[in-house]
Amino acid sequence: MKLLVLNGPNLNFLGKREPDIYGKRFLAEINSDLEIYAKERGIEIYFAQSNHEGILIDKLQEAVGQFDGVIFNPGGYTHTSVALRDAITSIPVPVIEVHLSNVFAREEFRHFSYLSGVCVGKISGFGENSYKLAINAFELMR
Ligand code: DQA
Repeated sequence: MKLLVLNGPNLNFLGKREPDIYGKRFLAEINSDLEIYAKERGIEIYFAQSNHEGILIDKLQEAVGQFDGVIFNPGGYTHTSVALRDAITSIPVPVIEVHLSNVFAREEFRHFSYLSGVCVGKISGFGENSYKLAINAFELMR
């Protein structure tokens, strides 16, 4: 199984960005842990991050034929992007929506996601373990 972990806007600032909410670890550290976690399970894992909506759409489209699943933290675009929703419905690759924070325990505008309804499922609130839980979910669906 081959998975893509795709992170959206401002997630390149993990570690420096609102550490009380998102934790003190850098994205590179989280990703290298995920790489080990995936390898232990015989899963191939790749990583991408962009602050740009169009590039995230490109990455989703390019996932077709390349990956068996996408673990996607769309950041703030979760709550705004019809275009990302359309990208997810345009591809046959299953996508799991992931958030470090529990979006339902935060501001009301974060409770709504354009993407949840077109993803396989959503994992929110477990910090960096949210990504590991998404790996587990793909493993269970294998
Ligand atoms: C986030 C939650 C979003 O509401 C926010 O805009 C982010 C990060 C999370 O991982 O908790 O950028 O996706």
